[in-house]
Amino acid sequence: MKILSVFGTRPEAIKMAPIVRLLKQTPGIEARVCVTAQHRQMLDQALRLFEIQPDYDLDLMREGQSLAQLSAGILTHLESVLEEFKPDWMLAVGDTTTVLTASLSAFYRRIHFGHVEAGLRTHNKWHPFPEEINRRLATVAADLHFAPTEWSKQNLLNEGVEPEKVFVTGNPVIDALKFVVNQDEPQEITELAERAGMQGTKAKKLILVTAHRRENFGEPIENICRALRELAARKDVEIVYPVHLNPNVQEPVNRILNGVEHIMLLPPLEYLPLAHLMKRAALILTDSGGIQEEAPTFGVPVLVMRETTERPEGVAAGTLKLVGTETNRIVEEAHRLLDDASAYAQMSKAANPYGDGRAAKRIVEALLAQK
Ligand code: UD1
Ligand code: UDP
Repeated sequence: MKILSVFGTRPEAIKMAPIVRLLKQTPGIEARVCVTAQHRQMLDQALRLFEIQPDYDLDLMREGQSLAQLSAGILTHLESVLEEFKPDWMLAVGDTTTVLTASLSAFYRRIHFGHVEAGLRTHNKWHPFPEEINRRLATVAADLHFAPTEWSKQNLLNEGVEPEKVFVTGNPVIDALKFVVNQDEPQEITELAERAGMQGTKAKKLILVTAHRRENFGEPIENICRALRELAARKDVEIVYPVHLNPNVQEPVNRILNGVEHIMLLPPLEYLPLAHLMKRAALILTDSGGIQEEAPTFGVPVLVMRETTERPEGVAAGTLKLVGTETNRIVEEAHRLLDDASAYAQMSKAANPYGDGRAAKRIVEALLAQK
């Protein structure tokens, strides 16, 4: 069985890594990896950590390119890879442009397509943009659907997907997370915690922030930055913000937050230190999908700076709260969690609804059963 894994951004690399590593060790499978490199530096960080050497690298990141330009590039270049390798199956994870175009490329060449992290939905076409439509289209093209939870499976069944094509596997991000949290805390995080004043009797609370969603570009991201500036006025917190490399994020974040006391702006962190930073955090403010899935492992409350989430399991479990992107609301909700011990305790539950760390095994077993 020949299997081609296709991915292109940081979160896809992290989520595909446990599957790629297991496929490589599985007898009877010839596994290859194609990266679109929709992201370059942030993808390479994850490839290094998981020691993955792609067999094909389309190297398609271009600053300022449109979704159509990126899509056209992937469709054109992936075709030659499929022509050369002739896989029986293609795998992709999630809802990026890479996933949408990979699923379409597989369909054009009549190659079976397995969709990892299938069935996430907000049921709102524009939130998140363009991911909600990307994942719905990938569902239509897929032959097997690896749903992380029962809720995501139900979304697929509601859309008419045949039950025998859906496997509830957990999200492989939890497999990846276990890989990194079982390693020692990197020195850079120990030093960062010292610099942030987290040691000693008057230890400060660390707030970890990430934000990058397209629908938050412009005013919402500026509102988020203003909220962080207000929160940084507290004496008892240090805000640590590894800033996504997208220029639409870099520009407002640097303009509004550069030089503000008690805010550390950092380049994107490698996944190993980022996971250990999450473990250290008192509170996380984010619009990231992956971080919503990871934080419940550590019992760290997450305020989700978005209007919708396709991850209601964490909201139901009590560890995630949707707070939107209005400055005042973000500030109020953060103050409440920092000042009200019982509100904090209610959200600080270390139970993860997104997986048990064995998603890759279930996915590979399901593929082998297709022989
Ligand atoms: C993409 C995905 C989004 C995912 C996110 C994860 C789409 C449409 N968007 O968004 O679903 O949640 O990745 O982070 O598929 N850049 C760099 N270096 C990097 C990465 C990005 O310089 O390593 C800059 C480049 O200028 C690049 C730009 O960021 O053109 C945007 O990258 P792109 O992949 O289009 O969108 P993201 O906002 O990163
Ligand atoms: N992440 C990382 N370094 C960072 C920020 C995030 O390794 O500086 C990890 C994070 O733990 C998660 C993934 O990247 O596994 C999420 O990526 P991102 O937020 O860019 O995308 P999304 O999950 O929203 O698609």
